[in-house]
Amino acid sequence: MRIEPAELAFDSEGTPYSPAYGDVYHSAESGPGQARHVFVGGSDLPRRWAHERNFTILETGFGLGLNFLATWREWRADPARCERLHFVSIEKHPFERDALRTLHRRYAEFAPLAERLRQAWPPLVAGLHRLHLDGERLTLTLAFGDVALLMPRLRLRADGVYLDGFAPRCNPEMWSPQLMRQLARLARPGTSVATYSSAGAVRQGLEAAGFTLEKCSGFGRKREMLRGSYAPRRPPRSPREAVPGRTSRHAIVIGAGLAGAAISERLASRGWQIDLIERRAPPGAQTPGSYAGVFHPHISRDDCILSRATRSGFLYAVSRWPALERTGQALAWARCGVLQLGGDSDREQRMTEAIAALGYPPDYAQYVERGAAETLARCRLKSGGWWFPGAGWMRPLGLIAAQLAAAGARATRAAALTPHFGIGVHAIERNGGEWRALAADGRLIAAAPVLVLANSNDTTRLASIAQPLKNIRGQITYLPAEILTAPRVVLTGSGYVLPAAGGIVVTGSTYDRDNDDPEPQVQSHEANLLRLAQLLPHAQLALDASKLGGAVGFRCVAPDRMPLIGAMPDVDAAHTQKAALSGAQLADLPRCPGLYCASAYASRGLIWATLAGELLASLIEGEPLPLEGDLADALDPGRFVLRQARHAKL
Ligand SMILES: Cc1cc2nc3c(=O)[nH]c(=O)nc-3n(C[C@H](O)[C@H](O)[C@H](O)COP(=O)(O)OP(=O)(O)OC[C@H]3O[C@@H](n4cnc5c(N)ncnc54)[C@H](O)[C@@H]3O)c2cc1C
Ligand SMILES: C[S@@+](CC[C@H](N)C(=O)[O-])C[C@H]1O[C@@H](n2cnc3c(N)ncnc32)[C@H](O)[C@@H]1O
Repeated sequence: MRIEPAELAFDSEGTPYSPAYGDVYHSAESGPGQARHVFVGGSDLPRRWAHERNFTILETGFGLGLNFLATWREWRADPARCERLHFVSIEKHPFERDALRTLHRRYAEFAPLAERLRQAWPPLVAGLHRLHLDGERLTLTLAFGDVALLMPRLRLRADGVYLDGFAPRCNPEMWSPQLMRQLARLARPGTSVATYSSAGAVRQGLEAAGFTLEKCSGFGRKREMLRGSYAPRRPPRSPREAVPGRTSRHAIVIGAGLAGAAISERLASRGWQIDLIERRAPPGAQTPGSYAGVFHPHISRDDCILSRATRSGFLYAVSRWPALERTGQALAWARCGVLQLGGDSDREQRMTEAIAALGYPPDYAQYVERGAAETLARCRLKSGGWWFPGAGWMRPLGLIAAQLAAAGARATRAAALTPHFGIGVHAIERNGGEWRALAADGRLIAAAPVLVLANSNDTTRLASIAQPLKNIRGQITYLPAEILTAPRVVLTGSGYVLPAAGGIVVTGSTYDRDNDDPEPQVQSHEANLLRLAQLLPHAQLALDASKLGGAVGFRCVAPDRMPLIGAMPDVDAAHTQKAALSGAQLADLPRCPGLYCASAYASRGLIWATLAGELLASLIEGEPLPLEGDLADALDPGRFVLRQARHAKL
């Protein structure tokens, strides 16, 4: 979905105004004053968040972010503030960063916070954008898109709701009865609601959805406003999930690859204690090599699930990796840009049409003709293609080491990250509310209430998802940089080639089914050289493949090629309940309590890992999810069991 930015305009009194909706963004008297009186005060904050672990506010209409900034300011000033504040806001027409700067100049009291918000401001593309602010204790999740589409896709439990669309007569879709019912879905008994509007239809819609309301004095020229709380006549169908207590924030993570390192870092950022078990040597002891992977989002004309999910993964990763560097961790990577070449004129045509239909901002993705592509790549090419200016390459081993170091450094206790390298987990078992990881000799390696399987191809040996995972060999080839004019950007198409780094040009990679040879093979190098010839047809390389260096790895691939990120299904229990599961949803599936999975990243480990870490940590903590619900479902490790149950194949 194309995101149309808001137009910067003011009414005759100088109040920010929307020509599209014909209404002002806030009361003419004072935007910050309205935010404090109607929304912060109307939600009985700061009192209600005092001493909570997590507190979640859901807003309709982010606009200039004044409600957010007023809430942030209040929270910072409160010594009894909740440990972590989550602010989730839906916005169909976000402002561009420059427009926000102009607008924010008017509210001097918010200046330092507003600047931090603008620094973290995401590209204007559809979907959820998670921003971490204020030492990561404040999470802002911006949902760009239409409220009617996005509200049903949110996965969260709100403690407070700010209703702040334009006036109902100009903006009825922000106040519809359907929307109020969605609010009730996301509320718990006691969830507050506050709005500047006192319109009868708003009141009726909220009351019909289960909210109890009172009129109280409004702000500025508005005599009255509404405030209230969720008080359903019948108790909600699914009670609030049990969130781990402070003393049980202890997890075992099996596997210290991209998946395990990212989840360890995300849990550690929330004060978790982690036992990380890895059968290989620590990353520092492994030869770093030249292995580097490419990261860029997938795009498709219909903006399919894969495109939306990789967009979230890509944007989250490129916002977190610099944050890691700011904590002093070194990464070997470059956002040099990635050119996905069309290869032939038919495909170029389809790529041009897709990008025009999608309407992305050019700093996210654009189409470039061959000439412009050659200028970017500084080499001769066969075609133009999609240009991702913020994408690039990354050395995974460096990222893993940095995330583990960050997880260790975050520790408030010395033992917050306990690594167990050089030892494989032979089996896992659940005993007395804890998961136990056992070595081959039966020795207990670690025990904890939560266990995350981040062990790639070995996942389904330890726990079932009712489907086997594929193990697909891949080989990359290293070329000495002096023998070719390497592109200045990453080129992808039938394969990929990276810019020269450290005297080496990395190119690849093979996709070898039914091949488990861990050593580089000459025919795989030859296959990679053929791919390279497609990407750089003018390179004219005459090379002896038997003399080339390279590296081999194994991709773990699920039947639908999407990763497995989430709570593990209890396949045995599903079997015994199969009759009841024929029309079930993922939420109805029996799960193994405390058992999670972050696996099957296939060829996109760099795109999935960081977001998966945040998704799992949010799931485990009962925080708002950083992904839309239909995307989280597409990654859910229970999806195969559910499909089997629906088709009576369990
Ligand atoms: C040739 C090739 C090229 C690729 N190129 C790219 C690319 O350009 N971009 C990209 O994003 N992705 C790329 N990938 C994919 C990417 O490498 C993977 O998606 C990613 O490495 C998966 O990370 P992971 O942590 O899930 O798995 P792994 O990296 O395999 O880590 C799993 C870890 O678990 C450990 N483990 C397993 N079982 C146990 C056990 N029982 N006990 C203890 N430890 C255990 C393993 O030793 C391993 O360290 C490529 C893959 C290959 C093979
Ligand atoms: C009154 S303004 C919000 C002001 C904001 N809360 C603040 O603190 O600055 C209303 C916002 O709702 C947004 N909006 C209107 N219709 C929408 C829709 N259908 N879906 C999502 N957002 C919408 C508008 O773009 C606008 O930014």
